[in-house]
Amino acid sequence: MNNQVYIETYGCQMNLADSEVVGAILQNEGFLLTKEIEQADYVLINTCAIRDNAEQRIRNRLRELRALQRQRPQLRIGILGCMAERLQQRLMVEEDNVSLIVGPDAYRRLPQMLSHINNSEHLADTELSTSETYADIEPVRFDTNGITAYISIMRGCQNYCAYCVVPYTRGRERSRDPRTIVAEARSLFNQGYREVTLLGQNVNSYRWTNNQPAAPGDNSQTAEHGSNGVTGFPQLMAMVAEISPLLRVRFATSHPKDLSDELLQVMASHPNICRCIHLPVQSGSQRILKLMNRRYTPEWYLNRIDAIRHYLPDCSITTDVIAGFCTETEQDHQATLDLFRQVRYDYAYMFKFSMRPDTYAAKHLIDDVPDDVKTQRLEQIIALQGQIALENNQKEIGRTYEVLIEGPSHRSKAQLFGRNSQNKVIVFDRADLQPGQYVNVRILRCTAATLIGEVIA
Ligand code: SAH
Ligand code: SF4
Ligand code: F3S
Repeated sequence: MNNQVYIETYGCQMNLADSEVVGAILQNEGFLLTKEIEQADYVLINTCAIRDNAEQRIRNRLRELRALQRQRPQLRIGILGCMAERLQQRLMVEEDNVSLIVGPDAYRRLPQMLSHINNSEHLADTELSTSETYADIEPVRFDTNGITAYISIMRGCQNYCAYCVVPYTRGRERSRDPRTIVAEARSLFNQGYREVTLLGQNVNSYRWTNNQPAAPGDNSQTAEHGSNGVTGFPQLMAMVAEISPLLRVRFATSHPKDLSDELLQVMASHPNICRCIHLPVQSGSQRILKLMNRRYTPEWYLNRIDAIRHYLPDCSITTDVIAGFCTETEQDHQATLDLFRQVRYDYAYMFKFSMRPDTYAAKHLIDDVPDDVKTQRLEQIIALQGQIALENNQKEIGRTYEVLIEGPSHRSKAQLFGRNSQNKVIVFDRADLQPGQYVNVRILRCTAATLIGEVIA
């Protein structure tokens, strides 16, 4: 029987969560998920389109897979996710070893499509939906440590930042029924999981109204709601955090324009909501932020940082930044470096601007910062951030944190690693401790990326 499926995932946490939904949909229809690509009848690649290099990586991977296809002529390759949505049928023309293209809102139709592709057929379904949230599907957990899991709470994005392809690959923003989110988190907790991360492109705009229909299979009569029968993100966070004080709750990503004091207050009153906020700034220049259509100013952003520090003095703050966006001058770049010096992030994802087809930037702006200048600016940001992260970590020496143990340390089996509430990785001696336990660890030493400590009674 041709029913073994191998799934490979690229891109963001939302893609990882989607692959787990795809796994569940296929398993429910009798397909078997395999971890051995050599056994597979179908290889499904869940793709990312955020930067050109993300797409090039997938094209290289498709080239590598030709060797495997020669050995297994019945093997079919399918492209899922954002690159499938962006390129649609064109991708099958350009990459002739691909026989299936499925966009992020069409995964329910995947089993049927797999059953129909034979030697001659090519299939594509890239229809986007305004309502699909896969709310009723309990994801298969891949690569799991059994301790931490992702829960997708919304899909899509309609912020249309000028550089960004996501609104085109993921469609309109829509929120998932809070009852199904709480049920999924509770079920994970009962299975022994101790941390859930609620995912969306802009979780602060999560919004569910009472009169929306319940998901299929949902038997709960009532849900806790905020005023006017609306569940916003702060209410949702409270509902998930109240499942158990032993369940840690994280979330990503927050758009700075929508980060509310109400959310910070909910966090402050729930110690198990983790003290870590990912607040992508993208640029420190007012002019560039406007051109990016981010809809906040550096002043607004710094005001939000002050609010975080006010309500949550021990909160870590992380960010995303883009070097070399259209028309960026040396002065704009300096403004980004200044903002980094002011905020002193604990971690940053730093990128070189990559022009994406169909975005506002592609239609109306010119990619006029030379590549070597982009590289140079990126390197300056990386060097500055590396210094700041190291200094921040040095201040941690001597402090004690509650750590949720996740598993063996990557360097040595004699050690375990976990994270503190601030999401910093902490490594310590194994002793007779187990993943899933909470321990108190005093920090002894550090690098820019890791804290090393000792367990204290
Ligand atoms: N929804 C999140 C970000 C999702 S994409 C948010 O709004 O913050 C993750 C990061 O990729 C972005 O924060 C941005 O820093 C980066 N990114 C997006 N498009 C890019 C592009 N065209 N070139 C370079 N980096 C990009
Ligand atoms: Fe892209 Fe902006 Fe939406 Fe984030 S908020 S996914 S950067 S369009
Ligand atoms: Fe990439 Fe799509 Fe995520 S473009 S970053 S996989 S939403």
